[in-house]
Amino acid sequence: MDLKYIGHSAFEFKTGDKSILVDPYVEHNEKFNWHDKNITDIFVTHAHGDHLGQAIEIAKEKDATITAIFELANYCEEQGCKVKPVGFGGWLNYDWGRVVFVPAFHTSSLPDGRYAGEAAGIVFDIENVRIYHAGDTALTTEMKTIKELYRPNIALLPIGGNYTMDVEHAAVAADWIGAQTVIPMHYNTFPEIQADLQKFMALIQVNNSNCVILNPENID
Ligand code: NI
Ligand code: MN
Repeated sequence: MDLKYIGHSAFEFKTGDKSILVDPYVEHNEKFNWHDKNITDIFVTHAHGDHLGQAIEIAKEKDATITAIFELANYCEEQGCKVKPVGFGGWLNYDWGRVVFVPAFHTSSLPDGRYAGEAAGIVFDIENVRIYHAGDTALTTEMKTIKELYRPNIALLPIGGNYTMDVEHAAVAADWIGAQTVIPMHYNTFPEIQADLQKFMALIQVNNSNCVILNPENID
């Protein structure tokens, strides 16, 4: 399994010859060329534009399936995509692994203003690696449940503040989740979500986690 940070909250997980995208807001990263990838599945944590991103365009071109919370999935279907509408709880099986949607403490509305269901985080099991993508969320005691139930190896956590956890709360989240590796996301993309990475790393080290920072510039 190969994990790549595309930028903001967008990630690519490669397994075998398949690519799985999460929150594919990819247009800001010129080096990410999705046209020549074998993208089979796209996951969207919630409907905000910086997470839905280019999901619809990519899903249509690649004939990929968008998995999302019921209301958001229905919207994607209206736009002409193949979808898998889901709710929180219960493992969802794919030919490359399995996934469970978990609560996030955030809002979710469609581009036209309609309610898009609950905002989610997503736990992925791919090739014996368990990854928790927190989506957009505030610090919430649900994260203690993430540790108790899922014990993820890797936690992808928003740190930019304003709309989500800031570095201080994200460091607490990392401790509560108990992941060995934490990858910060959702920062420095917009003026209101500037984050001090050095401070985040210092706070993380207090709790003895690793803090891996993936730079979108490194994407091949
Ligand atoms: Ni959001
Ligand atoms: Mn966001």
